[in-house]
Amino acid sequence: MLVSAVTVMRTWRLLWTLLLLKQGVSYSQRMTQEMVMMQYLEGRISQLEDRLSKCDLSVQNYEQKLYDFSKDLRGKLGGLQAFQNEVRGQMEGVLSRVGRVERELEYLEAEKLNQPCVDIEDTLLEQQVQEEQRKQKDQLDLGRDCDTVLSGVKSLKIVKREGEAQGSWMKDPTNGSAKVYFFSGVKNSTLLEFSSMKAFVGANATQTARRVQLPFPWQGTGHAVYRGFLYYHRAGSANEVLKVSLRHRTVSDRALLPGAGRLPAYSLSPHTYLDLSVDELGLWAVHADPDLGGNLVLTKLDEGALGAEHTWDTPCPSRDAETAFLVCGTLHVVYNSPHGGRSSVQCLYDIHDSLHAGDTPLFFPKSYAAHASMRYHPKDRQLYSWDEGYQTIYKLETKKKGQMAPV
Ligand SMILES: *[C@@H]1O[C@H](CO)[C@@H](O)[C@H](O)[C@H]1NC(C)=O
Ligand SMILES: *[C@@H]1O[C@H](CO)[C@@H](O)[C@H](O)[C@H]1NC(C)=O
Ligand SMILES: *[C@@H]1O[C@H](CO)[C@@H](O)[C@H](O)[C@H]1NC(C)=O
Repeated sequence: MLVSAVTVMRTWRLLWTLLLLKQGVSYSQRMTQEMVMMQYLEGRISQLEDRLSKCDLSVQNYEQKLYDFSKDLRGKLGGLQAFQNEVRGQMEGVLSRVGRVERELEYLEAEKLNQPCVDIEDTLLEQQVQEEQRKQKDQLDLGRDCDTVLSGVKSLKIVKREGEAQGSWMKDPTNGSAKVYFFSGVKNSTLLEFSSMKAFVGANATQTARRVQLPFPWQGTGHAVYRGFLYYHRAGSANEVLKVSLRHRTVSDRALLPGAGRLPAYSLSPHTYLDLSVDELGLWAVHADPDLGGNLVLTKLDEGALGAEHTWDTPCPSRDAETAFLVCGTLHVVYNSPHGGRSSVQCLYDIHDSLHAGDTPLFFPKSYAAHASMRYHPKDRQLYSWDEGYQTIYKLETKKKGQMAPV
């Protein structure tokens, strides 16, 4: 009985153990399945991670390559820019050297041909002056009937190389005399007077010229000679205009030009504050006004007492201008680049308001350095110019107002 009880107990225990075992087995089976699942998932994740990191690496690779490429490109572009600048610099150097050589050649040629050429020119000029004087006497007296319009620049003649880089030279446009007046530099109290163009270009001209010592020094390059008188900006004053008799060397009148003297008239000719000039209508003054944003102001002067007859605010800027001249009451402002180049008239101001700047600027024939001055001579229809120490003449092409054909 005891045995059987023991056996029963054993059996129970066995059964119990089996049950437990069975339960344990199914539990561990589940565990194993989950673990396999987990392992599988982990495997997938690590594969994905692997691929991601590979992807990341190749993106980084691409980025690096792109960076290297753009760096390389930038370096090459920089090199190209430097090369381009170098070439441009060399080109500019060559061009300016060619310009210089051209100028020298023309000067030497002119020098060689001077005597006969100027003889002819002088007699022609003389004839022209006399003829024009006859023709234009009434016109000059009538004054306001002036109808000459500048239509182009015909030619350039290099007359001489004398004096400093800046200066001015001119003839008296209203007096029948062929005298040439010469102002070297931007400040002095003397000027040279030559009896004729021939004397001006002749040998030892400067030694044989008449030295005119003025009572007060002049400043800038904007002097005007008119009917035997010299009109100029008195050096040391802001805006004083003097009228001096060239024969007696005495001051015949003086005046202050209102508003002038605060800015150079033309930014590329920084020593000239007052620019006096002569055209068919008489004596004019040009200055730049800071209150007008640096634009030019044109004043008609009465040549007797130097009073201002009328003043016009023009839209022409003084910036990058080198000089200006008037033809029949129309201001022509000449512009250039600050580094020198080809000058052109790019702003017109007509007091009669009938002329306007054309579509294309009016270019001067050659690209030299810079014009310190251009003095218009109504009868000769020429500009007496000073170009870096060279005295040159531009022959002008003109027409009558309202006509197409040149006169
Ligand atoms: C003034 O002009 C004369 C004649 O051209 C010249 O000899 C002299 O050196 C000039 N003086 C000055 C200060 O430029
Ligand atoms: C020019 O001057 C030099 C010396 O200054 C002189 O020997 C020569 O004869 C002069 N020439 C003329 C044409 O006057
Ligand atoms: C021209 O000017 C000179 C002085 O430079 C003078 O002797 C002469 O009378 C003037 N001629 C005329 C027509 O005004």
